[in-house]
Amino acid sequence: MAIGVFDSGVGGLSVHRSLVERFPKADFVYLADQANTPYGGRPGEEIVALTKAGCERLFDEGCSLVVLACNTAASVALRRLQQTWLPGCRKALGRPVNVLGIVVPTIEAATGLPWEHEAERRGEKVEKLDIVGVFSTPATTNSRVYEIEVDKRRQDVAVFSEPCPELARMIETGAGAHELARTVEGHVKALKARIGRAPDRAILGCTHYEIVADLFRQALPPGTPLIHQPAATADALARYIERHPEYDAGSGGARRFLTTGEPGPQNGLVSTFWGAPIVFEKA
Ligand code: DGL
Repeated sequence: MAIGVFDSGVGGLSVHRSLVERFPKADFVYLADQANTPYGGRPGEEIVALTKAGCERLFDEGCSLVVLACNTAASVALRRLQQTWLPGCRKALGRPVNVLGIVVPTIEAATGLPWEHEAERRGEKVEKLDIVGVFSTPATTNSRVYEIEVDKRRQDVAVFSEPCPELARMIETGAGAHELARTVEGHVKALKARIGRAPDRAILGCTHYEIVADLFRQALPPGTPLIHQPAATADALARYIERHPEYDAGSGGARRFLTTGEPGPQNGLVSTFWGAPIVFEKA
């Protein structure tokens, strides 16, 4: 058995890297749906169908747990798949399988509270508002998942989201540093204008953006803390596996990288981020 990691493309590698560091002995299968990337501008039903197909593929590859290393899939499709598809899928496969997302761990990291916690609304005076900026795909921004879930838990934290419609595609296709920097600066500027000041903290709410995290650091005021999704997801998975020993993560340290798109080496931006050329096999 193995742990599956799913993204529309190369962005989920940022999460994969953290998971592998945390579980060096586990077997991993990474699946990039590059035939259909980017997801961020697609209608919700398409995102649900594509995410389900990716999970099915990873279960077929012997995965017991699939981590959706994609905010767009996690915020648009995960709840529906957990409620309407997974129970039947477990029965058909005759073994324990589950799909986990990256939004819950990110909200836990942003609020400093466990997911189960919901604030009692006592109308307390908020002395100092902590503003979190979220950069994400249009589908994640439209879901308002970060605004809604943080607001349920912390009255002193406010979320403002900035959709970045082109950025995942630019990273996927290996756009040049100058063009990427200009795009990131434009989004940081637009978010600041919407808030009326700079955010106190930021979430790179699309896993592709982690690959250009330095550009966000340069565009945001110096020292703005970034809430780190890969680390938060690895922590959450460690807690989950401890509570659920029925999910077998394997022990051979295998690493496979599959793509529904063109197999072969990934672009230079990705190799630089990864620290070595990374070659995907045909899914
Ligand atoms: N990396 C993904 C995310 O976290 C998907 C980007 C896209 O396909 O638009 O949202």
